[in-house]
Amino acid sequence: MSGAELDPRLLTRAREVVAAITGFRDDAISGEALERVVRAEFSRGRSAGDLLGELLHPSSTLAFTLVRAVLVGETYFFRQPEHFRFISQEGVPAALRRGSLSLRGWSAGCATGEEAYSLAACLQASLPHGFPVEVLGTDLHEASLEVARRATYGSWSRRESAPKLFPLYVENGERQVTILPVVRRVTTFAQGNLLAPLPERFGRFDFILCRNVLTYFTPAARDAAITLLSRTLNPGGLLFLGAVEVDRVPPGMVREGPPELQAFRLLGPGESAKPSPRPRVAVGARAPVAAPVARPAAPAPVRVVQAVPPAPSRVHLSALERIEEGDEVGATAVLEALVRQSPDYLPGLLELALLRERSGAREAAVPLMRALRSRAERLPPDQLVDGPEALPARFYQASADAYLNQGTLE
Ligand SMILES: C[S@@+](CC[C@H](N)C(=O)[O-])C[C@H]1O[C@@H](n2cnc3c(N)ncnc32)[C@H](O)[C@@H]1O
Repeated sequence: MSGAELDPRLLTRAREVVAAITGFRDDAISGEALERVVRAEFSRGRSAGDLLGELLHPSSTLAFTLVRAVLVGETYFFRQPEHFRFISQEGVPAALRRGSLSLRGWSAGCATGEEAYSLAACLQASLPHGFPVEVLGTDLHEASLEVARRATYGSWSRRESAPKLFPLYVENGERQVTILPVVRRVTTFAQGNLLAPLPERFGRFDFILCRNVLTYFTPAARDAAITLLSRTLNPGGLLFLGAVEVDRVPPGMVREGPPELQAFRLLGPGESAKPSPRPRVAVGARAPVAAPVARPAAPAPVRVVQAVPPAPSRVHLSALERIEEGDEVGATAVLEALVRQSPDYLPGLLELALLRERSGAREAAVPLMRALRSRAERLPPDQLVDGPEALPARFYQASADAYLNQGTLE
């Protein structure tokens, strides 16, 4: 069977399952890698029908074997050194000015861990001796994390293009290096999918590196992942993305440094940016309409459009305002009422599910995510769903899929 044509339905289903779990664009999923896995299953005596049956369950062993086969784990120490220089010279001093008493970093999509250890070394070298530092590295690929935990690397992890900026490792002979104990002690690793919220127990971060990961994602999955990342930042915290991964400033953030740095800072309470992070709509009016480009600079009268936004979005916005004010209990009550009244309003289902998850009530989040998935599946994937931000239905489906599948990944 190994040289024979494969059933196209099987490969199509394999692609769909991999895309739903990873958020990858179709052209980022290697057909060759999928075929290799399928042929290996055939060589163990399994039939196409058997494999198709298993792939009806996106959380099956086969689904994760396929996912592992398409992941790309290329990484090295101090990759994109400008990020580490910025953290050391600008980010850490700013955090200290804000009064931070400890600093936490997250390497999101860390592969074999070089990025997480580089971040830990950078923070330690930029802070007074003994200042509390913690760094978390997460990835979908468990085998990569095992390499990370071993903390021993070969020459492939060191590149000319990325100098050793801070003390990080010692040579241990045989052209290998071992991460310094002081760096290793503050760095931990856990499996996680960037399309699912990071469990609350991991806390919040001052610096997040998510580089060379989102480049494989569909636009909707990338936006979903960035939203989740930004929710785990402390106010004033910095998110660093890889080059060409986003072409606009993520909601709720402002750009830091030159555009090519791809560094974004989460706004603090009461801080505003233009455009505003969330469409803050005064009750009874939409946001002012932008003036045509050719208009003279004379102050244009603010046009107040009488039409009100659809009721669910308004209620949702009031819940978001409560969340921003720290009133999560009030926000939960508002969202529960909203979900009862408008069970087809997808952003409300997602918001309430995430709120439940953050408060540790996973048993309440799961049915909401299931309802979200079944409703999102009924819509054309590219249909924009009205809400505080108009997002395509595929965003909601991908978010629910990733959340519901994550139990099998932990
Ligand atoms: C090219 S490596 C980048 C490593 C490191 N961030 C860097 O820039 O050097 C991409 C990593 O992202 C991980 N990854 C891909 N999709 C993911 C997802 N949905 N959730 C978590 N990790 C993911 C892959 O397993 C891989 O290890």
